[in-house]
Amino acid sequence: MADDLMYQDDIREVVRVAYRGLPHGAGPRMATRLYDAAELAEVPREAIGWALGVGDPVRRAGLAAGDVVLDLGCGGGIDSILAARRVGPTGRVIGVDLLEEMCQRARAAAAAAAVGERCEFREGEMESLPVADASVDVVISNGALNLSPRKSRALAEAARVLVPGGRLCLVDLAVEQDLPPEVLASGAAWAGCIAGAVSERVLAAKLARAGFVDVQITQRETFGIDDVAAYPLFTDEVLELMRRLIPADAQQRIAVGVEVHATRAAVLADHADAPEAEPTRVGHLDDLDPAEAAEAPGVDVRHLKRVEDVELKVLDVEPGGSTPYHRHPHAHQGVVVAGQGAVRLRDRREPLEPGSVFFVRPNEQHAIECRGERPLRFVCMDCFV
Ligand SMILES: C[S@@+](CC[C@H](N)C(=O)[O-])C[C@H]1O[C@@H](n2cnc3c(N)ncnc32)[C@H](O)[C@@H]1O
Repeated sequence: MADDLMYQDDIREVVRVAYRGLPHGAGPRMATRLYDAAELAEVPREAIGWALGVGDPVRRAGLAAGDVVLDLGCGGGIDSILAARRVGPTGRVIGVDLLEEMCQRARAAAAAAAVGERCEFREGEMESLPVADASVDVVISNGALNLSPRKSRALAEAARVLVPGGRLCLVDLAVEQDLPPEVLASGAAWAGCIAGAVSERVLAAKLARAGFVDVQITQRETFGIDDVAAYPLFTDEVLELMRRLIPADAQQRIAVGVEVHATRAAVLADHADAPEAEPTRVGHLDDLDPAEAAEAPGVDVRHLKRVEDVELKVLDVEPGGSTPYHRHPHAHQGVVVAGQGAVRLRDRREPLEPGSVFFVRPNEQHAIECRGERPLRFVCMDCFV
């Protein structure tokens, strides 16, 4: 894997390949830590063997008889089976997983647990759920959201399928401090839910934007390197990398399992009715509101705009050259690092120089051209929100 942050498609493929190749889950060692004995007694051995979660989303989900439950990234089905027991014969559980192999395991386990009749397992992606609008009472998920390179999209989908007032109960890992870039860029660490983990603050912001209210995030299990080693996703290579690069005093707390409870708002924001995006404009970095800047030791970060699913690129336009005159459905923001040039819009050209910041609206035709003698270099964010 390259020493670089990964793109969304790379991540999806890494996750798919990693989970498809697994010979087993984290097994009884982790399951006995996450679930109590009475719960484990309700689940067939195969489903325990395939457990790959980081918590117990059903225990405090408050499921009631007759509820319709959706399990995002259901894996081998341990939580779907526990949920099926709680909702009883009048309830229903839908498990969705990226991999048909996981769905098959979950189907077999649910049948072995004699709850197959009330369970259905569908191959699909949490970012584009194969589930009808407002058809689910409770969404649960265990160690799956972190695998999504588009968490905001996945949460918006969870909100879409929930009935108004429906509840979300998910558990996943959160990180308090950034992991070393070498670990973040490791496919194994992504597949193991570590590299894709966000902080509780970011998670809360994403939930609010997706349309959840009454968000409560509670810390549960602490995960150190020795704990994550129990998951078959972590290769010896990445474990060794973590032992080498993560300071000794942080090695026993690289992530914390968090439990999220939230309620789907009565009305979801309709993006079609959202106010028109700000007009395309060019300004200067120094003119940005310093209140939007966040400092870290040795780093000066200016948040040009609060965005969540962002692809960051560095582009060089050769002297006399230009990007094609084009448009895309997402917003586009750039900061010029070096060179001289212009943003060409339908009705005007805006000059660019080092420190210029430009904001291009979704679907606005534009091109970026270099007018100087040296390449125009800019850092560009494509914002897929
Ligand atoms: C860490 S495992 C957890 C499985 C299960 N929830 C459990 O507790 O054992 C994550 C699961 O999410 C699935 N998955 C990964 N990315 C997904 C996506 N984008 N949409 C749906 N499922 C996904 C994987 O195939 C895998 O089965």
